[in-house]
Formats: sequence, structure tokens, C-alpha cells
Amino acid sequence: MQNQGFTLDVCHLITQDHRFLRKSRVAFAAAVLLFCLFSLTFRPRSLRGADPSAPSPAVPDPAGGTMSLARSLGVHFLPGSSSKVLIERDGRTYLVDLAGQTISVSDASSPSSPETAPRLEAAHSAAQNAPVGAKIFADNCAACHGPEGKGGGAMKTPDFTNPAVQAALPEGMVTKIIHEGKPGTAMPAWSGKLSEAEINTVADFVKSLGQAPKPQGGTPGAAAPQMAKAYVPADDYVFSLPTGRRLDRHGLYLNFTHRFVYDPGFMSGERGTTLFGLDGFSISSFGLRFGVTDKLYVSFYRSPSLVYRPIELGVAYHLLDELDGNPLSATARISVDGQNNFSRNFTTNLELILSRSVTKRGQLYLVPTLNIQNRELISNNGDLNSVPPGLPGFNTFSLGAGGALDIRPSVALVAEVMPTLANGPEMGIHRPSYAFGIQKRVLRHAFTLGFTNSPGTIVSERAGTRATFLGDPSADTPGGLFIGFDLMRQIY
Ligand code: HEC
Repeated sequence: MQNQGFTLDVCHLITQDHRFLRKSRVAFAAAVLLFCLFSLTFRPRSLRGADPSAPSPAVPDPAGGTMSLARSLGVHFLPGSSSKVLIERDGRTYLVDLAGQTISVSDASSPSSPETAPRLEAAHSAAQNAPVGAKIFADNCAACHGPEGKGGGAMKTPDFTNPAVQAALPEGMVTKIIHEGKPGTAMPAWSGKLSEAEINTVADFVKSLGQAPKPQGGTPGAAAPQMAKAYVPADDYVFSLPTGRRLDRHGLYLNFTHRFVYDPGFMSGERGTTLFGLDGFSISSFGLRFGVTDKLYVSFYRSPSLVYRPIELGVAYHLLDELDGNPLSATARISVDGQNNFSRNFTTNLELILSRSVTKRGQLYLVPTLNIQNRELISNNGDLNSVPPGLPGFNTFSLGAGGALDIRPSVALVAEVMPTLANGPEMGIHRPSYAFGIQKRVLRHAFTLGFTNSPGTIVSERAGTRATFLGDPSADTPGGLFIGFDLMRQIY
């Protein structure tokens, strides 16, 4: 793991320096470096599997080969025009006017008028008898989004028939994007070009593409069943509690968590200098999840030396999903973590992750968790190289509960609480851990900023609180709440 080695190097650097004098600067530098690293892993989602040479779904080919050749070259003839042609190059579409000998970029900055709007002849004729939404789509959108809304091509548009794409696109967001376009991309704004009613109709149509059972050749979305009224969480986590959301088959997901446990966010003498704790030390964990199928996923997660380097390996199975019409979603997960890079103090965790939507704007979570041979959450007191002590293990049971509520199409308020119901006192846990925050989703990316009293993010540690960690019984009162954030990115 290159990234992990990098994190270790940063930790190492911290130990060698005068840690407590320089901790702010080093922590800040580490945060910036992690951010850069994170951004480097960013790829526009649309790069996924987009093969410019891949032929689009079958369309009539009156010219016996010319059309498919034209498509693979990124050339589109405009119906009714004998002098204009559209050419796609490097993700942009150019309108070539042979008569006027001009070439113009056909994108958001040069709105497509009915005359210049990119149209695919085939999509156009195929939609002649289709319902209104499909017709608007074929006339205005299919050139870039494909006649069946499956996207791809040189435009690298998303596949609207993919449930994961749909999950990242709540209805409100679709309407908003159609209205305003997507700045910085070829997606134009349609406000003013299409009527309000047309925008709503075509937005419904785009949403319906996700429900059609694999449209094959026929009119897309024609047989759209009624949409299950379910909330789609933006992240795998509420904050530290899992949401149990379904992952994509062969999807790869990155999870970063930061908990600035040493500096309480609100109640301390030096708030002005530590920015709600944000320029203090953080416990910064890093993990990956991979969807083996759309139901089974495996995960790897590591926390830093400050909590004795636990590595957690997990496997989860998505048993039920509300989106399939079930009354609730359920995921079972088993994970094993071991401290000092999976070499000692092993804990086995069994979780059942249940969720139920409350309308399409919110969801409730219940996560009963059994931790076998759990260890008290303690700090290594600054000696980053120290080996974790052989602490006694206890079997603990916690019942996590949480909720998410969308306050805007892409912004949710989130909260969670994780009381330890069995063997809490043995673990030094006297108050439940809890967190609340705000979550922003951006396509396949989620960012959550919150306050919590729990430094732990691996399964066995998340119900532990700051009191045992700092050895200060009063440290997990509300005055000890500290700031943290989560970053999630789907890479593929
Ligand atoms: C000139 C090409 C073009 C046309 C015409 C066009 N789009 Fe797009 N659209 C794009 C591109 C490119 C993107 C992807 C931007 C990105 O990479 O995030 C996009 C993105 C979108 C998205 C957001 C998808 C997502 O996952 O972010 C929606 C919804 C959408 N288009 C709907 C429409 C509708 C409806 C129409 C017709 C009224 C339309 N588009 C016409 C190029 C186009």
C-alpha cells in the first residue's frame, strides 16, 4: 500500500520532530499532503469504462457502414443539413459549417439552438412515437447521452440506466442540473431553452431510465415500474456508524476519516489558535472497499499509531435493499482487527446494519454490534513506536442508532449514538459515543464534517470515548466534543 506507507512516513516524521512544538504545523502539512494524495486519486467518474471507439447501441445504419464508421470517428451528421457536421474530439463537440467555413465549440458557452443542437438521426426517428419525455430526450439530450441514455462515447457521459449512477442523482439534483447545466463540462443549461414543464418531464424520464429493467433496443424507460420510495445514503458511513448502503459490483471506494481528538472544538482557552481543533493532531484512518458483486464487498482499513496501528479486514453481504421493494435494507458484516499492523490484540466484530427510509429525504439506521475480545481504546501517549500492551479482552455489545435527513438535494444532516450495552464499564466506557454533522454529496464523492466524542473509527473502537483515550474521566462530556471529517470517493 503506497498510500499507507506514505501515511507511515508522515507519522515517522512527526515522531522525529519536536512533536509538541511543531505538531500544529506538521499536522497541517500532513493534512494538506493527504488532501493532495486524495485529489490525485480523483478521476472524473465519466472516465470509467468510457471507450471512445466503442460503438453506440445498435442504430439503423442506412448508409451500410458509414454511420458506424462515423460514430467511431466521433462524427455526427445533422438531420436536414447538407453543410454542417458535428465532430467530437477530446470530450468536446465542434460544429463544423462547411458552407460558412467556420468551426465553433458546441458546449455550455455556446448554447445549442434547435438548429445547431447535436442530434442523432437515429435517436430522432426512433423516438417519433415515444412518450413525451423520451421525445424531449431524443431531441435534445441523446446526442451526448446516447439514444438509450447509456452515455459513454467521446462525451464521457454517465450511464443513466446504471442504478449506482441514479443513486448518486436524487430527483431534485437532476432537475437542477438540467436547469443550470454543469459548469466546466459540456452539459448545457436548459433553462430558457426548454419550458419548465419540459424540464420536469425530461427529468422524470432520466430518473425512469434507472428503473427500466435493462432496456435493450426498445424505447428506453417505456416500462418504468413505480419508483421505490427509498433514501440513498451518500456515504458508507453516517459518521462512524455504517449505513450499509449497497456498493457497485467491481466498484472501488476510498474512505478517509479524520478525528481531531486532542483539542475540543468549543471549550478550551486557545480556540482562536487551533481552529476548532482543526490544526491540532488528528487520528487519520484510511481504507478501501471493493464490491466483489453488487451484494458482497470486502474492506481494508487502517488507523494510525496513535491508537496502536489497528488494521481491520472485513467482508459484508447486502441481504436486502429497500430499492428492491423490501421494507428495509439489511447488511451483515464480519470484520477482524488486530493492533500493531494486525499482529496482536485481535478483535472479531459481527454487525447487522439495518436501515429504513423515512420518505425519500431521510433514513434511520440501527446497528447491533458484537465485539469479541474487544480492547479498551487507549492512546500510546505520544510514543508512536510503542508496542500495544497486552490488554485483557472483553466481549462487548453496542447498539448503534443513527439518522440522515436531506435538507437540500445534496446536503444532509446526520447524527448517531452508540451506547455499549454489555461490558461497557469493563472497557472504561461510561457514556455512549455520539456524533452529529453535515454531509455533502457530489456525485461519487461525499464529505462529512461533524463533532463527536469518539476518537475511534474502526468497528471495535467506534463505541469508545475520549475519556479512556486521554485517561481523563471528564473528557467525553459535551465540553470535550471535537471536530472530525470523513471523505469518501468512489474511484471506479
Ligand atoms: C452537448 C452535450 C450534452 C447535451 C446536449 C446534454 N448533456 Fe447532459 N451532460 C453532458 C455531459 C458531458 C455531462 C457529464 C458532466 C460530468 O462529467 O459530470 C452531462 C451530465 C448530465 C446530467 C448529470 C449526470 C451526472 O451523473 O452528473 C444530467 C441529469 C443530464 N446531463 C441531463 C441532460 C438532459 C436531460 C439533457 C437534454 C435536455 C442533456 N443532459 C443534454 C452533456 C450533454
